[in-house]
Amino acid sequence: MIGSGIGITPVLSMLNHLHKNGIKRGSDIWFFYGVRNGSEQIMKQHLKSIAQANKHLKLHVCYSAPGEQDTQGEDYHIKGSVSLDLLKQTLPGNDFDFYFCGPRPMMADLAEGLDAWGVPDERIHFEAFGPSTVKRKSAPAKAENQYQVKFDQTGKVLSWTGEADCLLEFAEANGVALPFGCRMGNCGSCSQKLLKGEVHYPVAPSFTPEEGYCLTCSSVPVSDIELSA
Ligand code: FES
Repeated sequence: MIGSGIGITPVLSMLNHLHKNGIKRGSDIWFFYGVRNGSEQIMKQHLKSIAQANKHLKLHVCYSAPGEQDTQGEDYHIKGSVSLDLLKQTLPGNDFDFYFCGPRPMMADLAEGLDAWGVPDERIHFEAFGPSTVKRKSAPAKAENQYQVKFDQTGKVLSWTGEADCLLEFAEANGVALPFGCRMGNCGSCSQKLLKGEVHYPVAPSFTPEEGYCLTCSSVPVSDIELSA
């Protein structure tokens, strides 16, 4: 089970149900929960207690940008985002049913990546918020090339290497604070004027930005770009 941000909601319900009825499965349950840091994590104690009560549950809380007050091993287990690479490094193999919900770039990464990893379609289950859905086997989300991303207001020019899931995450990882809301392509709060270049949406957002703007939570560059931020 994999939940990122508020995407934890459906998988937490499933976990609660299993906990309430007793986790009696033959195989272990792995639960991955991704947030930026402790200030965004919900149900911390609840998850810890469920993990302590169930020896077959393996809880992995991942912070992509831990704060100074966050301690690895206590507050979280893994520094980084939930991704296919992380699953490959952590799980003993791919012989699982996968249930996941979170930001669209993560969903696209997992839906495509699990398929490429040889997980049968019927064992991949996900829930997308809003009317648009994650398409299986869609176009690759990550850039193969390195692009320059210029943030106009701060004057920062950074190299995009395809490691971040989206421009918003890339900006945050490099100390550029951008506005955001849902982080899922639904609200438009992360709109930024695209002064130069082109972006691609690995998964179509449900919110359509104004002409000349892009949603940083859902897009990746496909050329050198310049943002008004
Ligand atoms: S944060 Fe809501 S659309 Fe990007």
